[in-house]
Amino acid sequence: MPGRVQGKVAFITGAARSQGRSHAIRLAEEGADIIAVDVPEAVPSLSAYPLASDEDLAETVKRVEALDRRIVAHKADVRDSAALKAALDDGVAQLGRLDIVCANAGIGTAPVAAWEMDESIWQTMIDVNLTGVWHTAKAAIPHLIAGGNGGSIILTSSAAGLQAYENIAHYVSAKHGVVGLMRTLALELAPHFIRVNSIHPTQVDTPMIQNEPTWRLFRPDLEHPTEADFAPASQAMNALPIPWVDPVDISNAVLYLASDEARYITGVTLPVDAGAMIK
Ligand SMILES: NC(=O)c1ccc[n+]([C@@H]2O[C@H](COP(=O)([O-])OP(=O)(O)OC[C@H]3O[C@@H](n4cnc5c(N)ncnc54)[C@H](O)[C@@H]3O)[C@@H](O)[C@H]2O)c1
Repeated sequence: MPGRVQGKVAFITGAARSQGRSHAIRLAEEGADIIAVDVPEAVPSLSAYPLASDEDLAETVKRVEALDRRIVAHKADVRDSAALKAALDDGVAQLGRLDIVCANAGIGTAPVAAWEMDESIWQTMIDVNLTGVWHTAKAAIPHLIAGGNGGSIILTSSAAGLQAYENIAHYVSAKHGVVGLMRTLALELAPHFIRVNSIHPTQVDTPMIQNEPTWRLFRPDLEHPTEADFAPASQAMNALPIPWVDPVDISNAVLYLASDEARYITGVTLPVDAGAMIK
């Protein structure tokens, strides 16, 4: 039986680990070839946790190839529009087409009140989590239009793209901005049958949240909170009684939006949030 995205090619940013790697594997399982980018330049004093390594990206390549799918992987930073375009152009040249775009790369930082936030931390967040998403779309759209087969662009926002959370004003602003970009692109690209949607995860079990500064954001009452201390506070966000979802839960929603099953779905903000938005 053919896969749900059989014969298609997907471009995924932040594909070296976590949700991005999971998207690559899930789409490859359903028949897609993959163009992967990750391993950005260092982001000094920004991240509360390390970003992905060369070894992580190599592991994604291995996992996709083990599924008998092709993958072209490049180191590229989504802040660097030219590098991102060069990586994607090479991938399309090698794999022959482009159908699906997952703008997944993103960062989180240690929490701080909006008025105490350093200018550089604000700017870097916007550069990666909003401008990087625009760079991804900008590089990909000419290929999608030229292919003449329509397409599906999935922008990774967050629950924080639909509602506010304290002490991460830069992240909330960037992720709300992604929704504005998604809606605008959905209108601009509809005549080409290119669909654009955003996905809004609640907490996902990845290094972005499983780090001490994030645990402290949720447990300001403890000096050195652990993952176990964080779990009930995280669970309080969700309606379903779980502390977080797994990367594959997001990948399954991405797969649906990427597939022809969603052929008339565009301009939609899709929460994968265990009911967090109705609390
Ligand atoms: N983990 C969560 O709870 C959660 C919830 C909602 C939304 N998100 C969003 O999901 C997306 C994926 O995050 P994740 O949870 O898998 O975290 P993660 O940190 O494990 O993965 C993010 C990936 O993006 C890459 N990346 C970061 N900055 C980059 C840049 N400038 N250029 C290229 N690659 C870059 C990292 O190296 C890493 O591999 C992000 O956009 C994040 O904001 C995460």
